[in-house]
Amino acid sequence: MCKGPMHEFLQAVPKCEHHIHVEGSLEPSLLFTLARRNSINLPSPSDDPAFSSVSSLLARYRRFTSLDDFLHYYFIGMSVLVTSDDFESLAYAYFTRAAADGVVHAELFFDPQAHTSRGVAYSTVLAGFTAAQARANADLGITSELIVCILRHLPPSDGEAMYRAALPDLLSGRVRGLGLSSTEKGNPPHLFKETYLDAETRGINRTAHAGEEAGVDYMAEALTELHIQRVDHGIKLTEDPAVMAEFVAQNIMVTMCPLSNVELCCVKNVGDLPIRKYLDQGVRFSINSDDPAYFGGYILDNYCAVQDHFGLTKDEWEKIARNSIQGSWCGEERKREMGKMLDAVMERFRT
Ligand code: HPA
Ligand code: ZN
Repeated sequence: MCKGPMHEFLQAVPKCEHHIHVEGSLEPSLLFTLARRNSINLPSPSDDPAFSSVSSLLARYRRFTSLDDFLHYYFIGMSVLVTSDDFESLAYAYFTRAAADGVVHAELFFDPQAHTSRGVAYSTVLAGFTAAQARANADLGITSELIVCILRHLPPSDGEAMYRAALPDLLSGRVRGLGLSSTEKGNPPHLFKETYLDAETRGINRTAHAGEEAGVDYMAEALTELHIQRVDHGIKLTEDPAVMAEFVAQNIMVTMCPLSNVELCCVKNVGDLPIRKYLDQGVRFSINSDDPAYFGGYILDNYCAVQDHFGLTKDEWEKIARNSIQGSWCGEERKREMGKMLDAVMERFRT
C-alpha cells in the first residue's frame, strides 16, 4: 500500500482533474435521498436487488463487467437529479471531496442529453453547476470548468442539437469544451465529425473518449477526424507506435483513469496500464477518477494505485503534475499559480 512519506507527498501534490463525470460522483446515499425527495421510482429490489440499499448498490458497483454494464447504473442513478439545487448539491459534494484529495483545479464533464430527455431543462442543469462552481471557488479555492459531452450511443443529430443549445455557453466560456462519452465500441469518432469541426472553426476546446474499450484505431480517428486536443482514457497507444509518435508530436494530453479501467475490466490490474511506457515515450497524461462514486475511489486513490504498481519517483510525479497543470483549460495566470503551489510542495518534500 502507498503509505508513509510518499503518501503524504501524493496527498500534498496540487492536482488538476481533467476526467471526472460529475454525474459519476453521485454517491448512493445522495442517490437514494434525491429519489425519495423527487418521487423518482428506482428499479424495485425484486427486479434488481442492487437497489435494496446503499450497501447492496455499492456491492453491485464492485462487480461491473463492462462499460455498458456500468452505464446502465450510471443513467439510472442520474435520473434522480431534477432541480437546480440537486445539480448544485451533486457538484458541491464532488468539490468538497476533491479538495480533501488536493484538487486545486477541476474540469467536469456533464451529459445534458441524459437530463433534457427526461424533461429537465439544460438551463436548470447549468444553473446548478455554475452555482456550485462559484461556491467551491469561494469556500475551497478550487477553480473549475465545465465540459459538455455528446452521448455517442444516441444519434449524431441529437448530439449536434445539444451542441447548438450549448453553443452560447461554449462561446462565452461558461462551458469550456466539448467531449464525447458513453458506449464506445460501434460508435466511432468520425460519426461526430461535423459537430467537432464546427467547434474547431469557433475555437472551442475538443476532447473525446477513445481507446477505453475500443482500440488505438479509435484514438487515431479522434485525432485525424475530430482534431481533438485531448483524449480521454487513451490507454491503447502502445498498440501502434506510429500513432503514439503522432500523439507525442502533437502534444495531445491523455486523461487516464486507472481505477475505472480495472473496474470496467479494460485491464486486469493497474500495473497493466501503459504508465511507464507513456512516461518513457513522452506521452503527456494526467491521472483522474472518471466516476469516483462508481469505481471505488477519488483522485488520490488513483494516484496511490499508480504508485503501488509503478513505484514512481517524486521527480516523475512532479512531471505528471506539471503536465496536468499545463494541459488544463484554464488561463495562464492560474497555471502560474498552480505551478508555484507545486514548487512549494516539491521544496517541502525534498530529501
Ligand atoms: N466511458 C464512457 N462514457 C462514460 C464514462 C466512461 O468511462 N463515464 C461516464 N460516461
Ligand atoms: Zn470518462
